[in-house]
Amino acid sequence: MKIFIKNSKEIKKIYTSCQLAAKVLEMIKTYIIPGISTEEINNICHNYITKTQKAKSATLGYKGFPKSVCISINDVVCHGIPSKKEILKNGDIVNIDVTVLYNNYYGDTSKMFLVGNNVSKISKLLCLTAKKSLYKAINILKPGIRLYKIGQIIQKYVESKKFSVVKNYCGHGIGKNFHEDPQILHYKSYDYGIILRPGMVFTIEPMINIGNHDVYLTNDNWTVKTIDKTNSAQYEHTVLITDIGSKVLTIRKKEKIYF
Ligand code: MF3
Ligand code: CO
Ligand code: CO
Repeated sequence: MKIFIKNSKEIKKIYTSCQLAAKVLEMIKTYIIPGISTEEINNICHNYITKTQKAKSATLGYKGFPKSVCISINDVVCHGIPSKKEILKNGDIVNIDVTVLYNNYYGDTSKMFLVGNNVSKISKLLCLTAKKSLYKAINILKPGIRLYKIGQIIQKYVESKKFSVVKNYCGHGIGKNFHEDPQILHYKSYDYGIILRPGMVFTIEPMINIGNHDVYLTNDNWTVKTIDKTNSAQYEHTVLITDIGSKVLTIRKKEKIYF
């Protein structure tokens, strides 16, 4: 395992990419309404990234992924492929995951959107719990703490709300590579002895389910769904470990982090 410590020049570039990704999520908000297809959402994001931002989508063509963002509705856990046939409807919950490449550095972030005015109480609570689990993990970040604490705090909080944490997918180091060491688990696991250091940059991206944590890969070889068909929610930020704590590189303008 090789964890790259980023210098200030690299951090500046990663921050720029992260802010571009965050701005895609800000921009797309008004389009998330019943009746729009996920293909249309993808195309709006694609045009914004390439034409307005002069950046590249990191997902387009990544290991053969065919679209510019991942869009995951309801029981889709992650890596949903935008499609003309997938139409948002009143009451859906949807994750949009944006990764951009700019100046040779990556930025990666995702959030949930509620579609229309009919989202169930339990799905709203699921989304809120995913967001707060991410915020609680961000809150403990500082040099000297052990990496496994991130997963421990997320799992403890999510299970206290009677939801479950997906184990098959994790966060990741990021920088000159889309995915690099270390893996960031969202549940408590063996302590590999990794200690957070200033200059580390990684994502935290908990996926949590209403029911069981088990998931499966569908036959398009990308879309991941819950086995028990219950809804799943995810929030993702790219974070930097600083000398005194952390900085959320993908923070959005109107976003307030609270614990
Ligand atoms: N953005 C995802 C992540 O958070 C990865 C998507 S890979 C894709 O790591 F190929 F599915 F787009
Ligand atoms: Co990621
Ligand atoms: Co992502």
